[in-house]
Amino acid sequence: VSPNTKLNTGAIMPTVGLGTWKSKPGEVEHAVEVALRHGYRHIDTATAYSNEAEVGKGIKASGVPREEFFLTTKLNNPDMGHPKEALQYSLKQLDTPYLDLWLMHWPAPMTKEGGPDKSIDWLDTWHQMVSLYKAHPDKIKAIGVSNFCVPYLERLLASSDVVPAVNQIELHPSCPQQELVDFCKSKGIVVTAYSPLGSDGSPLLKNEVVNKIAEKYKVAPAIVLISLQANRPGINVLPKSVTKERVISNFNVIDLTDEEVKELNDISKTAMFRVCHPNWTGWGNLGFTEAV
Ligand code: A2P
Repeated sequence: VSPNTKLNTGAIMPTVGLGTWKSKPGEVEHAVEVALRHGYRHIDTATAYSNEAEVGKGIKASGVPREEFFLTTKLNNPDMGHPKEALQYSLKQLDTPYLDLWLMHWPAPMTKEGGPDKSIDWLDTWHQMVSLYKAHPDKIKAIGVSNFCVPYLERLLASSDVVPAVNQIELHPSCPQQELVDFCKSKGIVVTAYSPLGSDGSPLLKNEVVNKIAEKYKVAPAIVLISLQANRPGINVLPKSVTKERVISNFNVIDLTDEEVKELNDISKTAMFRVCHPNWTGWGNLGFTEAV
């Protein structure tokens, strides 16, 4: 496993980062501090997680200087109409002068009430993110997207002179999304995996194949699942935990053989349990946003 991945901006992104989705205030500050004290140099958050301020406090508590770690946050769906203000809000909450990576969280503008906002086209918001990135290189080191499938990326790439540095998507053995991963790779977009364990209540930790490989290497099943993504070329992985021991152990990814990577990804052929699977083409299908 390579410890870092290079972005199309030339910047270096550490392969394993701490995920903070569903990490509650009151828990996440400690998790971030523990992570940074135990070797993590990559922290991922989002305005939608309502924990940026606490992530910022955890960073301060760790004592790790800002320039020594990679920090990502994401533009929230209800903020798609005013990205400049949203950026300022995130920087203030995180108490940081700059972001290493700023992502569009979903190609799905939403109203404050939570429904789709049909008055906004996410592509216009992307162009505004590009303008902000070009105008403020001191505040935004790279921009990218999250939860984008191939047709959405094709639409973006057709009208943007900036290629997203990253597409952050759900990846685990029930959701390998190989076609999307290959597409991103062909365009120079690094893929970051969230929910590598399959998220809360995941049946993957009890999966037979996962446990067989865990026994072989004498590691916990979670380590096999996190390592799977880190072993796929050019993929970063964001294990989420607020439990000290797990935060520490999740960082220790192991090398898997190509055969094991295939065997793990093949779990998707028989054990689908997520809406997000290789044939999934985006929230548009669920009526959440207009189709591309
Ligand atoms: P917790 O944060 O309470 O430690 P995912 O990364 O797929 O979204 O999964 C996150 C979920 O997996 C959280 O519920 C988290 O619990 C749990 N988790 C994180 N690390 C481990 C681990 N090493 N073993 C078992 N469960 C874990």
